[in-house]
Amino acid sequence: MNYIRVVVFSIVICGSWSIEQLKFPPSFMFGAASAAYQVEGGWNASDKGISMWDKFLHDRPELVADRNNGDVACDSYHLWRRDIQMCEELGLNMYRFSISWPRLLPSGYPNYISEDGKNYYNNLIDGLLEKGIQPLVTIYHFDLPLSLQDLGGWANPLVADWFADYAEVVFSLYADRVKYWLTLNEPYIQCDGGYGTEAAPFLQDAMLGRYLCNKNVLLAHAKAYRLYEELYRDKYHGKVSLSTLFFWFKPSAPEDQEVTDLTIDHWQGRYAHAIFSKEGGWPRKLQKLLNDNAKKEGYSHPRLPPFTPEEIELVRGTFDFYALNHYTTRRVRRVRLGEPPGKWFFDGSDELNTIMFKDPTWPNTSIHWFALYPQGLREQLNWLNSTYDVKEIIITENGVPSLDPGLVDTQRIEYYRSYLEQVLLAINDGINVTGYTAWTLMDNFEWLSGYIAKFGLYAVDFSQPNRTRTPRESARCYSSVIRTRMIHPTQDSTKLNYV
Ligand SMILES: *[C@@H]1O[C@H](CO)[C@@H](O)[C@H](O)[C@H]1NC(C)=O
Ligand SMILES: *[C@@H]1O[C@H](CO)[C@@H](O)[C@H](O)[C@H]1NC(C)=O
Ligand SMILES: *[C@@H]1O[C@H](CO)[C@@H](O)[C@H](O)[C@H]1NC(C)=O
Ligand SMILES: *[C@@H]1O[C@H](CO)[C@@H](O)[C@H](O)[C@H]1NC(C)=O
Ligand SMILES: *[C@@H]1O[C@H](CO)[C@@H](O)[C@H](O)[C@H]1NC(C)=O
Repeated sequence: MNYIRVVVFSIVICGSWSIEQLKFPPSFMFGAASAAYQVEGGWNASDKGISMWDKFLHDRPELVADRNNGDVACDSYHLWRRDIQMCEELGLNMYRFSISWPRLLPSGYPNYISEDGKNYYNNLIDGLLEKGIQPLVTIYHFDLPLSLQDLGGWANPLVADWFADYAEVVFSLYADRVKYWLTLNEPYIQCDGGYGTEAAPFLQDAMLGRYLCNKNVLLAHAKAYRLYEELYRDKYHGKVSLSTLFFWFKPSAPEDQEVTDLTIDHWQGRYAHAIFSKEGGWPRKLQKLLNDNAKKEGYSHPRLPPFTPEEIELVRGTFDFYALNHYTTRRVRRVRLGEPPGKWFFDGSDELNTIMFKDPTWPNTSIHWFALYPQGLREQLNWLNSTYDVKEIIITENGVPSLDPGLVDTQRIEYYRSYLEQVLLAINDGINVTGYTAWTLMDNFEWLSGYIAKFGLYAVDFSQPNRTRTPRESARCYSSVIRTRMIHPTQDSTKLNYV
């Protein structure tokens, strides 16, 4: 696409354009992302209700690597002005944050709206817009009101209506100013993690709970989308989607392509096919395999709860763009004779009889399962474009953790540079990627990794009551990318000649 080529100094390399000559389009939105429980703190401020994360981590601190929790976190509940200032320092076009359901609706239901909760998000939205920064609002990012968890949470089919009621309040308060919406964040973690060992409510019900939750989140998303479509679209012209966590998977050998496709459907298709595919419903091959497993194990109901034809139509097509959270890539192979399936991260290996592993040739990071394979992002964007009828993609999370609290975060710079290069190449392929929100604006409460895994462009001093935020070198690098719309690769990324 011509508009992203810099025509001066045009050198053709290997029949294509060299990365140095490619520029992000002027309309491309650069941003950063965060989530309520991870940054806000103020867990009991004013009349806020209790979320399931508040409750579970108060009761079971041992679940978290440093036995910590999000009670105070970055204290963004009080320090939101500084957060906006950081977005401005970086030159962001967009800031992604989430609304805390129990902060806005302390009972979980719309019978009572917290005045302080409402004002907190009004201030944040207005403050961002004053600086010309678009808010990208996630309506739900894991923090279910405890009152609803007590009634079965995401495994109770009524949750789709509870969520739609909450979303209606959110739209009625903020849709006049917010143009980009995500109903839910990473339902894979919400369900497969929440009915595993990785996320609240930690219920370890991998055979039933996670699949009930799976269907319910799709209905919840669809009901909220239809509500926006009916009541707000014509008036405010905003866009609604949900963000899915999508690691990329590659076959270990050509004969592993089929199990790799099934793995992609297990991670991604279960949360995307019903919404983004032309036919809707569950991905067929995976549905058959999982339901056969259930039958073999003696269950009387299919593993994937069936959709009625009305439900298929309700959910199908409920998107205005595709929102992708991408971090890393893994290899997949079928288990060998007598070998047990892999057990990585509630990953479905047991259902699919596979092993997933980190390719030994890909560079490592400080987190054992996280390898650097930037090409995976471009491959995945191409896969999305050819699999679903999506006309616009926004990358709503991408980033790398470090364990070192320092300010010179060379690997993060290398990560952002190399992954953004792949975004640029994908745009040049003809894929309509229109935005990118880096994970994350600042170090925050990284769920079960506590404050140990640091993803921040800004470092946060959690030992100080004022939670001082300091830009890392990666923040300077990212702001330079945003300003110039170019990546400026250097031979040696440690030279940091970005600014
Ligand atoms: C809020 O929780 C903190 C502990 O995180 C506690 O010290 C404080 O008293 C609580 N405030 C209220 C109003 O309950
Ligand atoms: C990554 O670490 C593993 C050991 O955990 C090692 O086998 C592999 O060679 C390393 N990869 C690279 C590219 O250094
Ligand atoms: C990309 O998406 C934007 C936003 O929806 C749209 O305005 C633009 O026309 C799209 N570009 C292409 C080439 O489809
Ligand atoms: C993206 O998908 C559209 C629609 O299927 C197709 O026409 C286009 O060629 C695809 N682009 C790339 C780069 O594959
Ligand atoms: C935060 O507190 C520390 C220690 O009291 C102080 O040095 C620092 O200047 C304060 N930072 C801000 C932004 O107020």
